[in-house]
Amino acid sequence: SPNRKPIIAIDGPAGAGKSTVAKLVAQELGLLYLDTGAMYRGIAWVVQTANVALTDDRAIAELARQADIDLRPHATDAKQLLQVFVNGVDVTTAIRSKDVTSKVSAIAAQPMVREILVSQQQALGKSGGIVMEGRDIGTHVFPDAEIKVFLTASVQERAKRRHAELVAQSMGLSNGEPVEDITVIAEAIQTRDDLDTTRTVSPLRKADDAITVDTDGRSINDVVTVIVDLYIAKVTSS
Ligand code: DC
Repeated sequence: SPNRKPIIAIDGPAGAGKSTVAKLVAQELGLLYLDTGAMYRGIAWVVQTANVALTDDRAIAELARQADIDLRPHATDAKQLLQVFVNGVDVTTAIRSKDVTSKVSAIAAQPMVREILVSQQQALGKSGGIVMEGRDIGTHVFPDAEIKVFLTASVQERAKRRHAELVAQSMGLSNGEPVEDITVIAEAIQTRDDLDTTRTVSPLRKADDAITVDTDGRSINDVVTVIVDLYIAKVTSS
């Protein structure tokens, strides 16, 4: 729509740093932030909790249709924790568990689930002024987003970051799960990449007009600045 404020779409594979970067960009520019992966994870959590088989498309679609997903950004938290509630239950930690993570690609591959979540995402972003991160934001959810970024990093680099994150987590909150080594994490990332890029519905793909930002060997601040500058250039030129 002509009166919509700009949208920043950030897509890319798991572990490229999308969440960290997207939150900081939103904070710096005073924009809303939407983690669409958390929505797919929320549905995966519901499916797991309801003990529904991953192959039962119809039951899963019904759960997705009825799910009340509520994302609450915590601006006061230094790490900008995003609190996630599904059907009134705080699933912030549960949706990051190994169990949910291993199921979510199969859930995200189901056309009905995508249809339901994409229309929610489009409703949440319709006024613009938002940073939305995921896999298909620039290609499918908001193909007319003003700024499209495709964030990448090598599998090795992503596995290293994930490992450091898990180690930090196990020292802090301690969710009771032992930390795997980097090779195991790298294999899991590769598997998830393969599933996300080869699925038939809205596979992970760089939009033709997206700018690729490779984060290997780059600081978070550096990457944030690149995107903030893209936004400012866009807004001042229009
Ligand atoms: O970004 P993440 O790891 O939290 O995403 C969880 C899963 O959801 C991942 O397997 C990819 C999928 N996903 C998707 O298919 N489309 C999106 N827009 C966001 C995530």
